[in-house]
Amino acid sequence: MSKKILLLPGDGIGPEIVAEAEKVLNKLVETSDFEVELEHGLLGGCATDALGNPYPEKTQQQAREADAILLGAVGGPKWEAIDRPLRPERGLLAIRADLDLFANLRPAMLYPQLAEASSLKPEVVAGLDIMIVRELTSGIYFGQPRGIEGEGAQKEGGRHAWNALTYTEFEIERIGRRAFEIAMKRDKRVCSIDKANVLEVSELWREVMERVAKDYPEVELSHMYVDNAAMQLVRAPKQFDVMVADNLFGDILSDQASMLSGSIGMLPSASLNSSGFGMYEPVHGSAPDIAGQNIANPLATILSLSMLLRYSLDRADLADRIDAAVNTVLDSGLRTGDIGGTATCTDMGDAVVAAL
Ligand code: IPM
Ligand code: MG
Repeated sequence: MSKKILLLPGDGIGPEIVAEAEKVLNKLVETSDFEVELEHGLLGGCATDALGNPYPEKTQQQAREADAILLGAVGGPKWEAIDRPLRPERGLLAIRADLDLFANLRPAMLYPQLAEASSLKPEVVAGLDIMIVRELTSGIYFGQPRGIEGEGAQKEGGRHAWNALTYTEFEIERIGRRAFEIAMKRDKRVCSIDKANVLEVSELWREVMERVAKDYPEVELSHMYVDNAAMQLVRAPKQFDVMVADNLFGDILSDQASMLSGSIGMLPSASLNSSGFGMYEPVHGSAPDIAGQNIANPLATILSLSMLLRYSLDRADLADRIDAAVNTVLDSGLRTGDIGGTATCTDMGDAVVAAL
């Protein structure tokens, strides 16, 4: 039966990198029994430009009908000064919330071929394999109340702005369970990240993680304050197996962890709901500074497609083929600028297709 994949190229380098993943997908269709119905949709700044909404009704419908979604990236300086609800990032947050994609999996692993591209010494990062499990639909990104006082309402100290960090036990528990389930298939260690020495939300976070841990006696749970975790990630990153964090801490630590692997241009991610439906996207953003130049690294998007096939469409066979092809290409020495070479985005996509 044919599967529906929705492609949301987005802004900046999004269209270039998603085009390479699309080539890879077409090659898989040509060379296997896999049947796919591809749809293209608008999300982010391009959607605001075309339809006046960064997550338009049409995209909402397409998303609900899809079996899985592959996203490029959203955002850029062009939309920084516009009304807040029209900003590209609001579209991304809206689709995450609308589809209840609460579990964001962000692997940070080092391709041995790229050990030299890491900003850390090769021996510190060799063999690195971390899975960051980030809560994606709650926390300070979504908490109410939020706001910024208008010009007219000045108090002492100038205007006043606020955001609320909130979590329910239910929200903490479901992301905690995901982290433990993933750890069961890995090295059976979960490090929960919080700021429990300062924040009440973190106290509850810790308590719930302890409770969840009782259902996974084989998994070792540890807790770490986020500031220490940031330090440990650059000091001795290999101590980590699965890290579970709230929305904001996970956002920051996953960017940091990605750089250990040499380039943020290499890392895929999955955002899943409770039934395994997911949206897949590279960890990196829309990189407006290099958009349109055909120099972006499409591998994170191609690897996101691999995750999509593995986790949402149950096609580990095809995912394995993509992963092997990426390895072959890296072995061949082909590199885009971010990993120390001069290959173009299309060169890289073509090479993966050829390796398939
Ligand atoms: C990410 C991005 C987004 C986030 C932005 C673009 C809203 O940084 O996916 O990590 O903060 O979640
Ligand atoms: Mg981020």
